[in-house]
This record gives sequence, structure tokens and C-alpha cells, in this order.
Amino acid sequence: MAEHDFETDGFDFSNVANKLGVTRRTYLKFCAGVAASLGLSTKASLAMAQTIAEASKRPPVIWLHGQECTGPTESLLRSEQPSLAHLILDMISLDYHQTLDAGAGHKVEEIKKKSMEENKGKYLLVVEGAIPVKDGGIYCKIAGETMLDLTVEAAENAAAIVAFGSCASWGGVQSASPNPTGAKGAQAILPGKTVVNIPGCPPNPANFLGTVLYFVTFGKLPPLDEQNRPKWAYGRLIHENCYRRPHFDAGRFATEFGDEGHKKGYCLYKLGCKGPETYNNCPSLEFNNVGGGVWPVGVGHPCFGCSEQGVGFNKPMFSLADVKTHTPPNNFPAIDDRQQESGISPTAAAIGGAAVGAAIGATLVASKKLGNKDAGGDESSSSDDQGK
Ligand code: SF4
Ligand code: F3S
Repeated sequence: MAEHDFETDGFDFSNVANKLGVTRRTYLKFCAGVAASLGLSTKASLAMAQTIAEASKRPPVIWLHGQECTGPTESLLRSEQPSLAHLILDMISLDYHQTLDAGAGHKVEEIKKKSMEENKGKYLLVVEGAIPVKDGGIYCKIAGETMLDLTVEAAENAAAIVAFGSCASWGGVQSASPNPTGAKGAQAILPGKTVVNIPGCPPNPANFLGTVLYFVTFGKLPPLDEQNRPKWAYGRLIHENCYRRPHFDAGRFATEFGDEGHKKGYCLYKLGCKGPETYNNCPSLEFNNVGGGVWPVGVGHPCFGCSEQGVGFNKPMFSLADVKTHTPPNNFPAIDDRQQESGISPTAAAIGGAAVGAAIGATLVASKKLGNKDAGGDESSSSDDQGK
């Protein structure tokens, strides 16, 4: 597609290449994709693109690390085409990040305190990793202070707080029984504050970026569900969009890794897949920007519910999931013996399901234009709209 194929409706993006180091076409395509995932209109996508392209001052970000493996940051940095890392670093002013800062020691700590003082009420706080509270929080200390105290201090004057990853959202693997350090998520130690949870192990970087884009563009948080997860990303069960779903509905299951059903791409429910009780957009977005089904179920491993509190790291891997929805999505083709007789293989039907699943996750949501002149759209668009 030629660059001029993008209808920019009077917006001027001539400075994008210089400012962000990506082509105008790549940038607009990226913003359109994020807006579509958010269920926003084309106009909202352009408003989003313009806000970032024209912003003279990037919002400062203070990024704290607690108990974790640095998976969320690793996930963010490995995004490509366009490089989310590039965009995120040009979109925000990353004033403090314990693993990406070139400097170290007291100098960096001084920069953090200075930024928080000068940007009271304006900075975005990102928490990555769990926060241990047992014994006064001594099991995670940075620069001589506990993660507990550092998080409470940084949250005090933050404009918004994002918990990135399952550990920061609700404790993650660190909080699994017997939880020896008393690990908790950010919301649990910040009563009275609104913490946006973007769980996952690792979380999908697009879910983080889309949320930050929304916040930077509209100056407010996107609609959240009852667990403070952005509805646009966590509004549907994995089971609703999974392209193995036709096999589930037809009773075709893999029962052992490597068995005939596993090789044929059958449903992984009997191997312990927690997709029926886990909300996330993994089947639609996938991971690593390479397409081709790169996400746990896509590569033949059951979802273990990494983004669902009380499921991931809590329920045994091979225990059966609670099936929250029993009615199959009507967009999926049925798989039955007649189809096999007619020469349609289960795999082919699953691929058909994949296409529909992608359509549900992207096209259908994208086509739900909120129809509001305000670029932020109608926030009454609830998770109910998205099938939750
Ligand atoms: Fe997909 Fe898992 Fe649901 Fe089977 S149980 S359809 S593999 S999400
Ligand atoms: Fe996690 Fe399940 Fe997605 S394990 S990455 S929520 S498929």
C-alpha cells in the first residue's frame, strides 16, 4: 500500500519520521491498529496519532521493579514492526527505570526524586513485579529502601498508576502458596488509589502501549473491568476467540502431549487449558509480532491462566478449568463427522475458526465505532458489548 493511501482527514503527520524515527505509514498503521483494538473510530485513531506526533512534552514515567523476572520489560523491548520500544521511549519520558537506566546508584535515585518532585500530579507510575509486605517488606529493597515504601511514595503524586504484569497486578508466582514473603500486587498496598492492572506472564506489550496511548491522548484511563483491567484488552475469555474452539464444541480433545489429537490441533481442555476461565486477548493479538499463531495455545500448550487472579500459579496445571461460557460463538464453523466425510479436515476447520477468531478480536471490535464526536468515544461501551 502506498503511503498516500492513508486518509489523514486534514491531520498533518509530516514531522513523524524525524521525531519518532519511523515512517509516516508505519506510524499511522500502528496507531490505527491500537485504536481498533480499543474499539475506537478512525477519527480517534488519527487524534491519537496526532497527539503523540505533536506532543512537545512527553509525560514523565517512573518505573519500579519489585519481585519478578523482568519479563514485562523484556516483552516490551522485543516488540518489532514497528518497534514498540522505540515508540514508547519517544512517546514518554522514561525518567527512571531500574533495568534500562544507563546510570546506577545514588545519582539515578536523585534523578527519580527530582522528577517526582518537579512533576507532581503529572507523572505515570509503572509498577513491575510483586511487592513483599511480610516483616516490613525487607525481602525486596532498592537503594536501601523497601519496595513497599518506594511504591507508596511514588504513588502519592502519580497522575496514574499501571501495574504491568501478573506479579504487579496481584502478586503472580511470588504470591503462590505459601507466599513466604507476603507478596502482593500494587492495588493491594495502595488502597484508595486506582491501579490499572495489565496482567500476563508476560503481559502483551500492545496491551500496555494501547493503555498508555489512550491515557496520553485523552488524559484519562480507558474503561476498566471489576479487576481494573482495561476492558478493551481483557473483555473476552480466551475460550471465546480460540481457534481450537470448534474442536471443544465437537468434543475433540488432545489427551496427551504428542497424541493424535494433539498433532491434529484439537482442543487442549483435557490437558488443563484454562482458556475457559481466563480473560485476555492472546488469540487475537498473539505475541512477538511474527503472526503464525505464536501464543501458548497456538503452539500447542494449554493456557495456564497467567492473567487471571486465582487461576495462574494457583490452580494445578492439569486440573480442568471452570467453563464460564457454554454456548459456542455462532461465528465458528461446526466440526462434525459430516464435515470430515465431505473432506473438510478438523485442522482446516480450526484454521477457519482462527480467521473468525481474529475477526472477532480485531475487525468486529474495530467496526464497533463508538460514533461519538468526542474522540474518546462513548465510555458506556461496556464489556457486555464485548461478550463478557
Ligand atoms: Fe482453546 Fe483452551 Fe478453549 Fe480448547 S479449552 S478451545 S484450547 S481456550
Ligand atoms: Fe497467559 Fe493463557 Fe495468554 S497462559 S499468555 S493468558 S494464553
